[in-house]
Amino acid sequence: MSTENRASRIADALCSVGWISLATFIEADLAVALRRELHTLDQQDALTPALIGKGPRQRLRADIRGDRTAWLDGASPAQARLFVQLEALRDHLNRTLFIGLEDFEAHYALYPPGAHYQRHVDSFQDDNARRVSLVIYLNDAWRRTDGGLLRLYTPQSRLIDEILPESGHAVCFLSENFPHEVTPARRERASIACWFRVRPDTPLPL
Ligand code: OGA
Ligand code: MN
Repeated sequence: MSTENRASRIADALCSVGWISLATFIEADLAVALRRELHTLDQQDALTPALIGKGPRQRLRADIRGDRTAWLDGASPAQARLFVQLEALRDHLNRTLFIGLEDFEAHYALYPPGAHYQRHVDSFQDDNARRVSLVIYLNDAWRRTDGGLLRLYTPQSRLIDEILPESGHAVCFLSENFPHEVTPARRERASIACWFRVRPDTPLPL
């Protein structure tokens, strides 16, 4: 599927049901390159324990989330390739949904065995600039028994889907509307979480 077709499927889904799970978002070789880079960063001690909240409220809570993260800057060849796709998606969503996504931020996340991420929404209490969430997975041959499932809920807390974090797969949803959690992983779990953002203090659509 072309980048353009994929982007229009995502736009249609966000507009109708608000979320979509995609069996292939990035090519297999790109997923391999990104996973290698993540492991190199880990070996260099460049990942830091993930914090929750924002600004002065930010704090470390391993009981809430146990992953380690590193922001992407788009500089390496693999990240540059990914950023082209993310930019194309941002542009497509803006042209079809008129949501005014100004930019995106993305981080690598590595969950060591035993780590989880409690149920949450991706926008912050005092900052709802994040409008579209996209999580891309980087793990080979993931089985349900490996845990580490992304459980996605409706705004009314009904379970919608459980997504296996298999290499190349991705899930995309409206950041405000879909609480989600990562169940405890029994093996190391690698992903990239990405958020498309509007200018701060933009009112939510009706
Ligand atoms: C997050 C998140 C989900 C996942 O980083 O906010 O919810 O499946 N990640 O890694
Ligand atoms: Mn999240």
